[in-house]
Amino acid sequence: MHGQENTTDYSLLTEQAAGILDAEPWVTAAMSNLSALIAESLADLNWAGFYLVRGGQLVVGPFQGKPACIHIPAGKGVCGTAMAEDRIQVVPDVHAFPGHIACDSASASEIVIPIHERGNVRAVLDIDSPVKDRFSAEDAAGLTKLAELIERKIRWE
Ligand code: SME
Repeated sequence: MHGQENTTDYSLLTEQAAGILDAEPWVTAAMSNLSALIAESLADLNWAGFYLVRGGQLVVGPFQGKPACIHIPAGKGVCGTAMAEDRIQVVPDVHAFPGHIACDSASASEIVIPIHERGNVRAVLDIDSPVKDRFSAEDAAGLTKLAELIERKIRWE
């Protein structure tokens, strides 16, 4: 399904992400360019972006893709589950995920990575694909490294 030609160079992606964060670590600027970078760097995506924790729930942040659900309660959908359980979610078939929130009916698989501020989940990185089982262990590892870089460099206010 996703052969060699679709694999992402995560060391290049991390280097480019560091450049974006070093140039301007303010959350809105950084997340805007990071979502654009991810959308350009990974094949077969239909949505890539961030939800931020605000008032105990997730609120949509900078992204690339179709207009999305604005509010996601903690524990709901793939994003709310990643937030509540503080754990990466790799979902090969979103239609088999109980409570999945279908913002874009094209989505078939999804990966969501929590991003922390001082140990607490402050945002999630959400990436959707129209291809089933799009996200490999390499994607999970590469995007976890990216989330750690964001945690180290981002300025939340
Ligand atoms: N599918 C997500 C909702 C966000 S959209 O995919 C952009 C979920 O179930 O949490």
